[in-house]
Amino acid sequence: MSKKVDPKIEDVSPEEEKLFTSLRASSWDEFHGQSNIKEALQIAIEAAKKREEAIEHVLFYGPPGLGKTTLSHIVAREMKSNIRITSGPALARSGDLASILTNLEKGDILFIDEIHRLNKTVEETMYSAMEDYALDVILGKGPSARTLRLDLPQFTIIGATTRAGLISAPLRDRFGVVHRLNFYEPVELGTIIVGGAQKLGIKIDKDSIYEIAKRARGTPRIALKLLKRVRDYAQVKAKGEITPQVTKEALEMLEVDSVGLDPLDMKFLEAVIKKHSGGPVGVETIAATISEDSGTLEDLVEPYLLQLGFLQRTPRGRVATKAAYKHLGLKEPLNR
Ligand SMILES: Nc1ncnc2c1ncn2[C@@H]1O[C@H](COP(=O)(O)OP(=O)(O)OP(=O)(O)O)[C@@H](O)[C@H]1O
Ligand SMILES: [Mg+2]
Repeated sequence: MSKKVDPKIEDVSPEEEKLFTSLRASSWDEFHGQSNIKEALQIAIEAAKKREEAIEHVLFYGPPGLGKTTLSHIVAREMKSNIRITSGPALARSGDLASILTNLEKGDILFIDEIHRLNKTVEETMYSAMEDYALDVILGKGPSARTLRLDLPQFTIIGATTRAGLISAPLRDRFGVVHRLNFYEPVELGTIIVGGAQKLGIKIDKDSIYEIAKRARGTPRIALKLLKRVRDYAQVKAKGEITPQVTKEALEMLEVDSVGLDPLDMKFLEAVIKKHSGGPVGVETIAATISEDSGTLEDLVEPYLLQLGFLQRTPRGRVATKAAYKHLGLKEPLNR
């Protein structure tokens, strides 16, 4: 790790990250599922090591909590590289980026979270940095302005985003390796819960594990969070013993339903079905109906509803499916 502390490098992680630091999978052995991505990365790492080069720039995208940050750390560890962490919004000016890049050492990894939130100028500075390991700095103003080209060490950018659609094509094209993370199967989440339970010293039976895995929205972060909540509930209400019945009660109290939908998901579906006759309805209109931010809905709510087959995206807007009506115990109108 470079010694100089830069104000734009976040050394305090966000609240949630802190909560999970103790649980973060730190090696391939602890990282379950996403086997295609894992294998592709292992090959890329192996090849880069053989050539004694930095690994190509990597972009991870997909819904929150699926392991983008975790994978980035594992890649750094496997490459035996230093990793520096920043984010799109933190890199407000090209100067911020320049000062970070010029302080990198050969083989270092710069992790940029929320990379879709980079502003245009910073993004453009990044193009030559990523492609040619060079920075064009403009000195002076007006007719006397000159550009100075600074050479950079060979480094790797790992970008992460929940919104791949918001990344411009030129930026996206500069990543040699692009991976989309998918929701996890309950079996995979089960393995992740077992790992978490071991780390936290929680005794839990198979059926309870499966109950949590089924309701964790295909998301490791949620699976681990529910595990902790179930443990708390068991401690207070069941002398610390986790049983399937206790697990069910705890999840009910947490308002997580049988397929993992939470109150916000339900509000969303009910808005589409009850207020907009099942759609098609635009996401902005849904957002206004339930007083939520449309970005939050697109990031947090829609991907899982799409995955469950409860929602369809059409050119005219979002449409609730038969399965959604059924899950809510409502009758689908005939004239849809
Ligand atoms: N495949 C996995 N195996 C084991 N644990 C995992 C896996 N994926 C994620 N986790 C755990 O889930 C938690 C959340 O993962 P992570 O922070 O990497 O998600 P993220 O994709 O970066 O989310 P965000 O988009 O919100 O930044 C961490 O505690 C991590 O260790
Ligand atoms: Mg992350």
